[in-house]
Amino acid sequence: MRNSLFTLVLAVLAGGVSQASSSFTFGKHDHNHTSHGEACGIYPKHAADAEKHFQTNIGSHRAGKYNDDYLWAEIPINFHIIANNQTMLDFIESEGRIEAQFEMMQEAFAPARIEWKLTNITRTINETWWERMGEGLIEEDPDDLLEVNPIERQMKETLGSGNPAILEVFIVQLLQGPGLGGYVRALPARFSDSPEHELERDQIDGVVLNWNALPFNPNPQIRQVFQGKTLIHEVGHWMGLLHTFGHVSEGPGSCEGPGDYIDDTPVQAYATHDDLRSTATSIEDCVAQDSCPGLPGLDPVLNYMDYTPDVCRTEFTPGQIWKMRMMLDMYRNIKAY
Ligand SMILES: *[C@@H]1O[C@H](CO)[C@@H](O)[C@H](O)[C@H]1NC(C)=O
Ligand SMILES: *[C@@H]1O[C@H](CO)[C@@H](O)[C@H](O)[C@H]1NC(C)=O
Ligand SMILES: *[C@@H]1O[C@H](CO)[C@@H](O)[C@H](O)[C@H]1NC(C)=O
Ligand SMILES: *[C@@H]1O[C@H](CO)[C@@H](O)[C@H](O)[C@H]1NC(C)=O
Ligand SMILES: [Zn+2]
Repeated sequence: MRNSLFTLVLAVLAGGVSQASSSFTFGKHDHNHTSHGEACGIYPKHAADAEKHFQTNIGSHRAGKYNDDYLWAEIPINFHIIANNQTMLDFIESEGRIEAQFEMMQEAFAPARIEWKLTNITRTINETWWERMGEGLIEEDPDDLLEVNPIERQMKETLGSGNPAILEVFIVQLLQGPGLGGYVRALPARFSDSPEHELERDQIDGVVLNWNALPFNPNPQIRQVFQGKTLIHEVGHWMGLLHTFGHVSEGPGSCEGPGDYIDDTPVQAYATHDDLRSTATSIEDCVAQDSCPGLPGLDPVLNYMDYTPDVCRTEFTPGQIWKMRMMLDMYRNIKAY
């Protein structure tokens, strides 16, 4: 799978990309923020609450084991493209970006026996949504998510279906720091932990994706980092997976604590080194560091849920696949067992 995906990416890049008129700035990832995991909108306290909810409620679901006989689970995707003007809107959709993104989703989730159905693409010109998405993302854990960015809530409520079983992807411009490719505001357990939170779903759920992180970015510097894997990483969160790095009780940089609560991802103190982001051009360059030398395993540098350049992001582990399917079943009414 890894080879065929890699070939696909290379083949299309070699096909040439048109030059954009807009100019971009792109710097190094802020190591502090990525290590906190805040760039994805997953707050440590929410992660701990979600795991507690999962462990408490799993008993009433079939405790399926990972195996090759999983049912294929089917999930509809709606893409919502937002821009400030018609030219930009057309530009985002040009080069077959949406189709290529969709195909990458199929490839990435096929080992988990998840099949995506592209059910709707909407196109909206709204300058406010284009300019102000992602505001309030990097802040202290908000208990009340409704306090965060009313503009974003309005967009999601207007365009989204509010249906837990449909993946809503909102493609916008994100200006909050270099390298912010996308985010989700909440893990799915959030919407099951109280009736109030269930009512908030249509304003909070779904993936917000920077158009920069779609395949075939016209800027070569950005294109080296973002080749379309950001959405796969965010959908991992949308299903309930955490980053492979970071430790929700002990803070960043520590090898103590529960980590991502998944047994077959080695403990990882911090995200894979940022240098890789600017230097890796092929999967051979994805050399794993060992941020917790006292514990088994090297850091999972090929995992979708680490922060690495897209050429490295090629794997979910069996433990992650088991858990994402379990959570689709528990939290999104998507039959996976
Ligand atoms: C990282 O965060 C810590 C704690 O918030 C802060 O003291 C430190 O200055 C930050 N480092 C950088 C490089 O921003
Ligand atoms: C459309 O928006 C883009 C991005 O902000 C801008 O560069 C471009 O000049 C705008 N085009 C028109 C025709 O308004
Ligand atoms: C554009 O966004 C604003 C702010 O959320 C909202 O009030 C307005 O209705 C939106 N316009 C359209 C056409 O969706
Ligand atoms: C696509 O989404 C828009 C906006 O939510 C909705 O009005 C439209 O009915 C949807 N179309 C289909 C085919 O589901
Ligand atoms: Zn993330």
